Amino acid sequence: MSTDFVLSRLLDKPSAPIQLTEPVAVSGLPTPALVLERSILQKNIDSMRDFLAAKGKGFRPHSKTHKCPIIAKLQMEAGAVGVCAAKLSEAVALINSGLTEILITSPIVSKSKLEILNKVLPIGSDHDINIVLDSMIGLEGLLECLDADKVIGVLVDLDISMARTGLRSDEDLMRLLEKIQKTDRIKFKGIQHYAGYLMHLDNYGKRKEKSLNAWQTLEDKFLILERSGFSCEIVTGGGTGSYDIDVHVERLTDLQVGSYIFMDEEYRSIPTQTESRFTEFTPSLTVACTAISQPKQGMITVDGGYKAFASDSVNPVCDEIEGVDFHFAGDEHGVLVLGDSDTSIRIGDVVRFVTPHCDPTVNLHDFYWILEEDNLIHSCWPIVGRGCSW
Ligand SMILES: Cc1ncc(COP(=O)(O)O)c(C=O)c1O
Repeated sequence: MSTDFVLSRLLDKPSAPIQLTEPVAVSGLPTPALVLERSILQKNIDSMRDFLAAKGKGFRPHSKTHKCPIIAKLQMEAGAVGVCAAKLSEAVALINSGLTEILITSPIVSKSKLEILNKVLPIGSDHDINIVLDSMIGLEGLLECLDADKVIGVLVDLDISMARTGLRSDEDLMRLLEKIQKTDRIKFKGIQHYAGYLMHLDNYGKRKEKSLNAWQTLEDKFLILERSGFSCEIVTGGGTGSYDIDVHVERLTDLQVGSYIFMDEEYRSIPTQTESRFTEFTPSLTVACTAISQPKQGMITVDGGYKAFASDSVNPVCDEIEGVDFHFAGDEHGVLVLGDSDTSIRIGDVVRFVTPHCDPTVNLHDFYWILEEDNLIHSCWPIVGRGCSW
């Protein structure tokens, strides 16, 4: 069997909201369940949009955080100039739902994936689907796989010191530009620079200094582009940890913010310019778990472990009950150390936790359970891009 089935499986995934026949309270959910508070979600989207718009910057939110076409459409309706996708499969989920303003922010180089990209790309230039490039191998592969009647926008990914993706050498940049110049099926759109390594620095001054320095260092590359006759329609980058810093970079046209929409403990625990914790956006996403066992006084076990929460560093946090500490107790379990709140959680209770790291946590769940202002869940939104590892 060829590998084509991965595409058809993804294209067959339903993406429409699922209306519940009867609204349900969080306590009635099959747990662990990913709960999304609609009013907070919308407030986060609108606040980021307003902040960027007031500074004359575009809003190009990253869908790697939510992996959900319904949310991408909300962001577009709020005025986004486009949405980002981290991977081809995430982009396919968006294209399949009718979105055509997409930037894939990680290079695609393998023939199998470039062929899929070619398949899902609409004919002609009546779309705004763009990918980043950082190697001649990627560019040549793209040219080989792209049908004669298809056009795609490209941004060159530039790196300063993250050493993940992006090119650094002036010669490599010039060679890439020369080759791009010679083809009319590839439209040069601009530059991406993303400095992920600084997003969670727990010193705002350091985050600011490092981010602004990186953008300053890129000035040489912009000179090369100008000398080669290239102008940048798009200069994109930044994230939630640098949104209010990068917004002052003149070159930048738009910001690829992702996590602001949900917020998570990793972000909440870093300082902003004025506060010791990041409170400018409010957590809209929690995982509801049920207390299922209590082998020992002072502790209680919930049904969420590594299969319900993804964490690089911190643990899930319970905002609802003060003094409760979550500890991972394996794949399916977490243990709550109850502290003074010993009597406040009993077997059968459902408790919600702010996620340690929102993007990979979302990737563990099939749906968002949408919590409305009446404190009930009326619908579920499929996380179409979950498990999309390619
Ligand atoms: C290329 C790129 N852009 C933007 C983002 C969004 O960053 P954040 O979630 O910190 O807002 C990420 C996150 O990993 C990313 O990899």
